[in-house]
Amino acid sequence: LARTKKKDFLTIGALQEEELNDLLQEAAALKKAHKEGKETPYLKGKVLGMIFEKSSTRTRVSFEAGMLQLGGHALFLSSRDIQLGRGETIHDTAKVLSRYVDCLMIRTFAHETIESFARHADVPVINGLTDLHHPTQVLADLLTIQEYKGQLAGLKICYLGDGNNNMCHSLLEGAAKAGMHMSVAAPEGYLPNAGILAGAQKEAAKKGVCIEMGQNPEEMIRNADVVITDVWASMGQEDETKKRLEDLQDYQVNESLCKLAKKDFLFLHCLPAHRGEEVTEAVIDGPHSAVFDEAENRLHAHKAILKKLLENVE
Ligand code: CP
Ligand code: NVA
Repeated sequence: LARTKKKDFLTIGALQEEELNDLLQEAAALKKAHKEGKETPYLKGKVLGMIFEKSSTRTRVSFEAGMLQLGGHALFLSSRDIQLGRGETIHDTAKVLSRYVDCLMIRTFAHETIESFARHADVPVINGLTDLHHPTQVLADLLTIQEYKGQLAGLKICYLGDGNNNMCHSLLEGAAKAGMHMSVAAPEGYLPNAGILAGAQKEAAKKGVCIEMGQNPEEMIRNADVVITDVWASMGQEDETKKRLEDLQDYQVNESLCKLAKKDFLFLHCLPAHRGEEVTEAVIDGPHSAVFDEAENRLHAHKAILKKLLENVE
């Protein structure tokens, strides 16, 4: 009964460049169709199971709305309610759910959990965020940058703050894959995962672009086309909040720092944001910010992921 040849969406780094381009094109087409009021019932009768071990507003609602817009259905499964939360194994949960649904999305803590879940599931698995990666968000970010700037290759992204963070990691992989320069401004102790950084730098070198790290936000943000940050304490790090706020205070994205970016820079943040911490109100609510378009684009990016994964399943 088990299906074979399924493909998962766990990291941006695992995508071929062509697959990334196809996803972006598909997302743009699905967005256009939606805006024009055209129906897109590509996944009629298909069911997506969504397991959440952490909170979510955007990911949950956009996947659920997206499945409906594609003619399918989505099930929200909180780990508090299903037997996974009471100790049923990832193996058994993946095997059982694969018998009911056509695709699974999971938001969890350790990245190894999703790798194991994907290994045992017989249907495609989508990463709805782990401690290490947030690839569905970065697909939406790339779509947003492309809409605003008309291109990706050759632009410079600057990420500031907690570099050892799921957003920073997926952005590193996304920037390298899309041929964008990227700079990361982060202090000692908050540097990206060394393996992810090395992989992204290798990919960037192939494309002739550069990924640089530095502790000086003024230097790193210089000439950036896109300025991105994320919360200083991610989900699961609540106990470290006080220390993180102190350690990262010099990396706040504010108006005076942004003067060093390009005049027409774009500001992105995956949300939820902590105004007054990683970013000031003036920036996130200011004229350069595209955070709500970015949030909207989750919907269209997710539909593209679902369509591509499910149309490829035999
Ligand atoms: N950006 C993002 O993933 O938001 P949620 O945590 O609300 O899903
Ligand atoms: N880095 C954040 C992203 C939230 C969407 C977290 O993991 O909490």
